[in-house]
Amino acid sequence: IPEYKVVMLGSGGVGKSMITTRYINGNFTEEYDPTIEDSYRKRCEVDDNACFLEILDTAGQEEYIALRDYHIRGGDCFVIVYSITNKGTLEEAEHIAEKIYQTKQTDEVPIVLVGNKCDRESERQVSMEDGKRVAKKIRSGFYEASAKTGVKVDSIFTQCVRRIKHH
Ligand code: GTP
Ligand code: MG
Repeated sequence: IPEYKVVMLGSGGVGKSMITTRYINGNFTEEYDPTIEDSYRKRCEVDDNACFLEILDTAGQEEYIALRDYHIRGGDCFVIVYSITNKGTLEEAEHIAEKIYQTKQTDEVPIVLVGNKCDRESERQVSMEDGKRVAKKIRSGFYEASAKTGVKVDSIFTQCVRRIKHH
């Protein structure tokens, strides 16, 4: 069975860990516990093929950004998360994508851009169109998702596997 490395990237507090734990074991918590680094493994089935995903949940906080290059080098696919409630996090997402293309030295990398916290519609700062525009620019997949409600969380990882395979 093939095994693929998925790296979760994005600003601090956007929901990388909650998307990951929602996918791995269905958990979500309102508490914010900044990540240093965590990794998980899950068997998944996509288009009738089994595989293992090793998901690396990275730190978004500035203090740990030095580790980013290292994580990018080891990844097969990247989930770049921003929060629809914070415009600056989409700018950071675009910046991270540039970094990935620079590091991988190729113009085709499997990336899924995720606008998280779509349950907080009343606090929205980033339109769906803005998210889609950046996704097109960075040649990635795109979902608006919510780790809280679980909407589109599985789709993110299914899309990762499809993008890795068609790479
Ligand atoms: P770092 O590890 O510091 O990079 O942060 P992170 O991106 O892993 O964020 P984390 O998953 O820890 O979530 C940060 C905060 O946002 C927590 O209080 C979560 O409960 C909250 N949160 C995460 N996802 C959602 C979501 O989809 N909806 C809502 N309403 N809150 C969310
Ligand atoms: Mg985290």
